[in-house]
Amino acid sequence: MKTMRARAAGAAFAVAAQAALSLPGMAAPAAARAAVQPYAVVGDAITRPLTAQPGNAARGRAIVTDRRTGLCLLCHSGPFPEEAFQGTLAPPLDGAGSRLSAGQLRLRLVDSRRLDPDSLMPAYHRSEGLARVGAAWQGRPLLDAQQIEDVVAFLLTLRR
Ligand code: HEC
Repeated sequence: MKTMRARAAGAAFAVAAQAALSLPGMAAPAAARAAVQPYAVVGDAITRPLTAQPGNAARGRAIVTDRRTGLCLLCHSGPFPEEAFQGTLAPPLDGAGSRLSAGQLRLRLVDSRRLDPDSLMPAYHRSEGLARVGAAWQGRPLLDAQQIEDVVAFLLTLRR
């Protein structure tokens, strides 16, 4: 991630990832049709859950490994022995739940560019200012509030 070349390759990759997540012909899953939940950033975290219903870690794992919903494994690797192809552009997800709190994980998923404007990671719960978003996705976040909570719940189980 340090070299310019890696940055450029990563940036191109991020655009591809965003485009893949928003192919015009692809119907947005019903769950992703919801609007962005209002949230407050406290330090480097969103401490309040986005939903009243707690996240479900099993659903979160499915989102993380799904090549259409989360697409996380384009960039990340993790403890997913069944997944043959995993990314190398981003830190491995192993131990994420030991390194980061629920609130810190939540902000990184919702909009990592709030922490680093150059972040390659797509903003999963933002509907404005995204580049090249397919028609089906305009005005909609990539993951809805419940999906964000599910992924946070799953990442918290990744402890060292
Ligand atoms: C296009 C590449 C890309 C995709 C797709 C992506 N990420 Fe990331 N992610 C990154 C990069 C790069 C970082 C390192 C910090 C930064 O640059 O913002 C990161 C950082 C993180 C972190 C913080 C890691 C740490 O230990 O500090 C977590 C957690 C995370 N991503 C989870 C996810 C999850 C879950 C998904 C899918 C819903 C996902 N990422 C999708 C590129 C990506």
